[in-house]
Amino acid sequence: MATAHARGRQQSRSDVREGATADGGRRPDRGRRICTASAPAGVRPQDAVRGPRTVTSAYRVRVTPDGEEFEIREGERILAAARRSGVWLPFECGWGACGTCKLTLIEGQIDTLFDTAPAIHPRDARRGRILACQSAAGSDLVVKATRTDESPRTHLGTGDYTAHLAQVDELAPDIRRFRFRLDRPADYREGQFAVLELGPDLRRCYSMAATSGERHVEFIAKRYAGGRGSERLFSLPLGSVVPIELPYGDMWLRQDERPIYLIAGGTGVSAILALAHQLAATNDPRPVRAFYGATSVTELVGRSQLAHLLAGLPDGHLHATTSTPSADVSTSSGYVTDALATHADSLAGARIYLAGPPPMVDAVLKLLSAGGQSIDTIHYDRFG
Ligand SMILES: Cc1cc2nc3c(=O)[nH]c(=O)nc-3n(C[C@H](O)[C@H](O)[C@H](O)COP(=O)(O)OP(=O)(O)OC[C@H]3O[C@@H](n4cnc5c(N)ncnc54)[C@H](O)[C@@H]3O)c2cc1C
Ligand code: FES
Repeated sequence: MATAHARGRQQSRSDVREGATADGGRRPDRGRRICTASAPAGVRPQDAVRGPRTVTSAYRVRVTPDGEEFEIREGERILAAARRSGVWLPFECGWGACGTCKLTLIEGQIDTLFDTAPAIHPRDARRGRILACQSAAGSDLVVKATRTDESPRTHLGTGDYTAHLAQVDELAPDIRRFRFRLDRPADYREGQFAVLELGPDLRRCYSMAATSGERHVEFIAKRYAGGRGSERLFSLPLGSVVPIELPYGDMWLRQDERPIYLIAGGTGVSAILALAHQLAATNDPRPVRAFYGATSVTELVGRSQLAHLLAGLPDGHLHATTSTPSADVSTSSGYVTDALATHADSLAGARIYLAGPPPMVDAVLKLLSAGGQSIDTIHYDRFG
C-alpha cells in the first residue's frame, strides 16, 4: 500500500460465514488497549475502563474543528463508521501502516485494535493520537482531524462488498488463487488492494490480481505456517461469505511518458499482474520492463500469464529470476536486485511499481535510492 511513501468490531460483520463457519473460538487478532481522554464531568475514572461488552450500541463521533458528526456502533472502526456516514476522513492503507488516518482523541474512550500497527509511534499515546482505521469506539467520542472531505480524497471511495468464495486454484505448494464472487462489480484501480475480514477481528490485506469492473475479484495468496490470516483463508470452503473492503492503496498506474518498471517478489506478483492486465487492455505504448523474483521456478506463479500480457505490448519484456539456482534457461539465478542492477541506466527516469516481501522491497528501494531515483516515481506495497 503505498507510493514512494510506503507507505476493527462489529461482531456481525466480522464473522466469516462459510456456508456458516465461525472462527472456532480463536483469540481475536487485536491489541485490546483501551485509551481514554478527558472523561466528561460526572464520569468517575474507574467507569472509563469497560468490562466485556455484551450489547451492541451506538455512539456519536464529533470531528473537530469542522463539527461533523456521525454514528458509530460499539466496536466499529472509526474510519469505517465515518465512511458509512459519508464523512471522508483522510486515509490511505486502511490497516495501520501509513499513519494518514491519525486523529487526536479529545474526549471519550477507544479500543486500539492493532497495538503493534507499523504506523503507531511511541509518542502517539502521550499526544492522544489514534489510528482511525484501527480504533473502535467505546463511548461517544470527540476527535480532532487535520481535515475532513466531502468526497473521497482518493480516486475511488472505499466500499463494503459481500464476497462468496467461488473458486480456489492451487498454483504452487502453499500458493493459491482465490476467486470471490461479489454482490456488485468491483470498483478499483489495478494495483490496489482489499481488506478481507477473515474472522472476528482478523483482517488481512490482499492485492487484486485481475482487472476492475467485474463481478468478481481474484487474489494470489501464500500460506504462512502459523499465520492466522493466511491459514484461515486457506481453510475456507467454497461458498464461504467474506466481507471485503476495497479499494485501498496508492499503487496504480500513473499516466505519463515515463518507461514503466514492474517489480514483483513472491505473491507481490498479484498487484503486478493487475497492472499488466491494465497495460495490455489499453495496448500501452510505453516501454514496460517486468522483473519477477521468487525462491524457485515452481513459486514463480502466474509467470506465463505475465509473460503473455507483456508479449502483447508494443514494447514489453519479462525478466524472471530465482534465488535458488535452476536449470530453467529462461530464468536467471539470483535476487531481483541482481537483475535490476544491470538496468541501472534505464531505471533512471522510469516509473517504478514494486510489490513483495519487506527484505526484497527494501533491497530494491536501496538500489533505487543509490541510483538517485526520485522517490516520487516509486510506488510500492511491502508485505510478507
Ligand atoms: C498492502 C498489502 C497487500 C498484500 N497483498 C498480499 C497478496 O496479494 N498476497 C499475499 O499472499 N499476501 C499479501 N499481503 C500480506 C497479507 O496481508 C498477510 O500479511 C499475509 O497473508 C500473512 O498473514 P498471516 O495472518 O498469515 O500472518 P501473521 O503473521 O499472523 O500476520 C502477518 C501480518 O498481518 C498484519 N496484521 C497483524 N494484525 C493485524 C491487524 N489487526 N490488522 C491488520 N493487519 C494485521 C501484520 O502486518 C502482520 O505482520 C499483503 C499485505 C499488505 C499490507
Ligand atoms: S494507518 Fe493507513 S489508513 Fe490508517
